[in-house]
Amino acid sequence: MSMNHSSTNDTKTQNAGRPKGDGIVVLDYGSQYTLLIARRLREIGAYSEVIDGASQRPPEGLVVRGIILSGGPDSVTEAGSRALPDWVLKHNVPVLGVCYGMGLLVEAFGGKMRSATRREYGQAHLKVNDVHNLSRKKFLGEKLFDDTPLDQTVWMSHGDDVAEVPKTFQTAATTDDGVVAAMVHDTLPIAALQYHPEVAHSEFGKELLRNFATKLCQLELNWDGSARIQSLCQYIEDVVGQGHVLVACSGGVDSTVTAALLLKALGPQRVTAVFCDTGLLRQNEVPWVAEKLKVLGLQHLEVLSSSDRFFEALKGVTDPEEKRKIIGKLFIEEFEAYAKKHPAFTHLGQGTLYPDVIESAGHGSGAKVIKSHHNVGGLPDRLALKLCEPFRWLFKDEVRSIGLELGLPLELIERHPFPGPGLAVRILGEVTRERVKMLQQADHVFISSLKEHGLYHVPWQAFAALLPIKSVGVMGDNRTYQQTIALRAVTSSDGMTAGVAELPLSFLTKVADQIVRQVHGINRVVYDITTKPPATIEWE
Ligand code: XMP
Repeated sequence: MSMNHSSTNDTKTQNAGRPKGDGIVVLDYGSQYTLLIARRLREIGAYSEVIDGASQRPPEGLVVRGIILSGGPDSVTEAGSRALPDWVLKHNVPVLGVCYGMGLLVEAFGGKMRSATRREYGQAHLKVNDVHNLSRKKFLGEKLFDDTPLDQTVWMSHGDDVAEVPKTFQTAATTDDGVVAAMVHDTLPIAALQYHPEVAHSEFGKELLRNFATKLCQLELNWDGSARIQSLCQYIEDVVGQGHVLVACSGGVDSTVTAALLLKALGPQRVTAVFCDTGLLRQNEVPWVAEKLKVLGLQHLEVLSSSDRFFEALKGVTDPEEKRKIIGKLFIEEFEAYAKKHPAFTHLGQGTLYPDVIESAGHGSGAKVIKSHHNVGGLPDRLALKLCEPFRWLFKDEVRSIGLELGLPLELIERHPFPGPGLAVRILGEVTRERVKMLQQADHVFISSLKEHGLYHVPWQAFAALLPIKSVGVMGDNRTYQQTIALRAVTSSDGMTAGVAELPLSFLTKVADQIVRQVHGINRVVYDITTKPPATIEWE
């Protein structure tokens, strides 16, 4: 449960630790997938940053070698939709428009978009034109689809499509519905895609982004997040000086690797970890995490026993957003109370990641709030502590590899993600101690069975949720009328989209049997077979 926050302290602090050099800038128009573009680019070794789509200049300090325009909820056919900033086409670097970004380029070059009569959503079949047969020059098209087949599966999510390709462009790929899925400029390194290459379901999306980075932007693929430990330690020493850091730990990857890195940079005497036991954690979580942190060499660990306050505040609350807000607020208050009693701290160490920075920047991208993640809070401002956020320019997988380099156990680094508000968002309806206990037991049966059967890494994330319904069952000769557990196990690469993990039915029935036998009050277990979208991973 990290408490990432990034709106405070000065620009100098925010820019500290920022990598230097060349990269690709992604202009954000509010797509749920914008950050994935940057992440995919970094995965292939191309450094990238995300800025607001309305930015009137490129980011300072980055040598921009290419520009990608993201998707977004707007429609270029409507008045007031966000426009392409002037500098983009004058910057003389390759440009790739994705979805809404394609609409911007179509309009900029005199073509026409239209509101599609049928929204395309999900997977589609892409037919790439054989570029060797294209009638006109094929400067970009050839390179963009290099080393990828002419038939591909791609991920679509759009309301508009191209009605008229601009005269200086030609169609490079279409879908089975005849939608223009890719267009390339005749002579300039400018292209646009209707589909989302950044989404894992686009079969050759990563290859396309690699082609864009290397063959069009001529970027050397030399970015490696895990090779940054020395410079991050230097950043910590510079920021903290002779100070003492308070780090909020949760057992999650981000906060644990932050603590490990702080320990490496500052030594155990100047790092104190605080762990807030909200009562909403997994079974045995507190001693498990405490032990792992000690192995790191941590000497100062404080566990705040805060569960009474959390249960009191959640009494009678059933609305998911209200739960999230109450928990976020209380969490901050608990830390604030602790820090105020210990005035020796000068800095707050946080595992803020690059996506947290971008998402909490609130740069008016218009991305819709699906759930308010409580790990964006006002803590540092209220504590008057300076921030130390070594990972604010990094993605989670980059932090994971740093954790491994630092010698953290794989078991910790590769844990399934756990939501900030904890089990409260996996208990539909009121959160009580009794219901938390029920869920903890059921979840424990599920997760330990996955581990015992060597299936833990089949899903990207797995858990149990407690439903607010009772149903009739029979145990022995008796009628039961009890509650229901839903098991959820999803495949994903980032949590943005998810598929259903295909766990063997024989395994699932065994788990169900064990849950019903062991967890008092449960007489039915169901398996959630919904993808994200349309469902989310968590139930609330
Ligand atoms: P959803 O439910 O939005 O979840 O599909 C996507 C991923 O995010 C996790 N999640 C959270 N993580 N604070 C977090 O740190 C939160 O408030 C939060 N809510 C959801 C979820 O477990 C999944 O991995």
